[in-house]
Amino acid sequence: MSAAGREASGPDLTLGVRIDTLTEGMPLVGHVGEDAVLLARRGNEFFAIGATCTHYGGPLAEGLMVDDTVRCPWHHACFSLRTGEAIHAPALSPVGRWSTEVRDGKVFVRDKAEATPKRRVAVGSGSPRKVAVIGGGAAGFAAAEMLRRQGFQGDIVMMSDDDAPPVDRPNLSKDYLAGTAPEEWVPLRDERFYDEQRIDLRLKTTVAAIDVLAREVALGDGAKVAYDRLLLATGAEPIRLPLPGMDLPHVYTLRTLGDCRAIIARAANAKRAVIMGASFIGLEVAASLRARGLEVHVVAPEKRPMERVLGPQLGDFVRGLHQEHGVVFHLEDTATAIDARQVTLKSGGTIGADFVVAGVGVRPRLKLAEKAGLAIDRGVTVNEFLETSAPGIFAAGDIARWPDPHGGAAIRVEHWVVAQRQGQIAALNMLGAGEKFDSVPFFWSQHYDVPINYVGHAEAWDELAIDGEIAARDCILRYKRNGRVVAIASIYRDVESLKSEVAMERETMTRA
Ligand SMILES: Cc1cc2nc3c(=O)[nH]c(=O)nc-3n(C[C@H](O)[C@H](O)[C@H](O)COP(=O)(O)OP(=O)(O)OC[C@H]3O[C@@H](n4cnc5c(N)ncnc54)[C@H](O)[C@@H]3O)c2cc1C
Ligand code: FES
Repeated sequence: MSAAGREASGPDLTLGVRIDTLTEGMPLVGHVGEDAVLLARRGNEFFAIGATCTHYGGPLAEGLMVDDTVRCPWHHACFSLRTGEAIHAPALSPVGRWSTEVRDGKVFVRDKAEATPKRRVAVGSGSPRKVAVIGGGAAGFAAAEMLRRQGFQGDIVMMSDDDAPPVDRPNLSKDYLAGTAPEEWVPLRDERFYDEQRIDLRLKTTVAAIDVLAREVALGDGAKVAYDRLLLATGAEPIRLPLPGMDLPHVYTLRTLGDCRAIIARAANAKRAVIMGASFIGLEVAASLRARGLEVHVVAPEKRPMERVLGPQLGDFVRGLHQEHGVVFHLEDTATAIDARQVTLKSGGTIGADFVVAGVGVRPRLKLAEKAGLAIDRGVTVNEFLETSAPGIFAAGDIARWPDPHGGAAIRVEHWVVAQRQGQIAALNMLGAGEKFDSVPFFWSQHYDVPINYVGHAEAWDELAIDGEIAARDCILRYKRNGRVVAIASIYRDVESLKSEVAMERETMTRA
């Protein structure tokens, strides 16, 4: 994957394209000057927008048109064909938009127009004046950005106990850790953005308490921040196992840019790493450290990596893929102690380790919500509008347990795109939009050149149907419960993955 723009190719769209050659749902990619432009037909309407996704550069024409939107094949961002706006994360910036003109049986792409976001809520005198956001991660950033996108003029204070501004966290176990992503890919926005958008971003700022009645938060240094609406988006923290040696300086966890940089610095002078945990993050780290030429050992209690989430077949494939790339697995085993030179296993052996990365899961950061007396149920309980049990306080991202209309149960997940989309909906609802959060959960994971996309949510399933060949990296797996598809995982079946997402959305709408 690349964040670079696509090179302009295909027809010059300013010269016109015969209408009868344009099929609805099958956009054409051409160019206007240097810009790659997607020309799409919907009935007798014609739209021209940038052809390259503003997230990581996915080719939008290879995605899926749904009504007057197009969804990116890579990580399911959604753009308006009318305005170019990135309606759904993970893309946050719009693509370009051009006007079109129909004449003599042809459609001509004309001038570039401003990408104007559609206002989804009326911001006026009844709107809150002060919004406080606790958390500078996926959900917190997406919320602040959406508030300004909607024309909110009041104060936004965003507090984060991290020392880095909001970053593209998924990159920290993938390209950035592997050394293949430039530094500028990591921040979600450069520093000017916060000034220009008047977002008072306070880094290295710990929120110590929320006073629900007084509507203010207390900072670690005793200062207070008043709010009319509050978003809690404190995310999750890596679990540190209670093992001898876990606190040694060469034992790392990975959540922040600082964590990632520390691992990179250590890897520069190391030959061998031990990863504890065969989770998504553990194995992405394994792949990235292999890309840096390190010998990598993975220790994990399960029989197959990722089996609980993806099933045995994909689990076996993922293990084989990592083995092909030289990763050594120690499965059905655990670490019992770590010292300066090695990791001791329960099975009795030892593995020499210059450093250790523990990727054994995360715990939602609930302390503030608990202290404030908010309703908690293995996460912060929110309603369909993402509002907590305290009116005016919303929660989003890894901490939020919300009523998922697709599966019918209240769920909490740890997915980047879900956190961003929840941040966006919480922002709209802080302004009074009254929008339900009804996105189908989505996540992706990347192992070497193999992306795995997952749509839906299946804590358990009674049938797993495999279409295509996993070994050939061309497959879609459908996880079913009582005959109903509750989730799908796919490798290089992007359009089918998008179609499944749409089918799940429509199924829920029909039931509602
Ligand atoms: C290395 C890595 C790779 C990942 N890759 C993927 C992937 O490929 N696909 C995917 O779907 N998901 C991925 N995830 C998961 C994804 O990043 C999370 O689901 C997402 O970041 C959750 O967003 P959030 O806003 O809830 O929390 P976060 O992004 O963690 O943000 C939480 C913020 O709250 C701040 N905070 C917490 N407590 C306080 C406090 N008391 N005071 C002040 N600030 C506080 C933190 O400093 C941080 O700024 C990955 C996660 C990691 C760590
Ligand atoms: S590249 Fe388009 S959503 Fe990621």
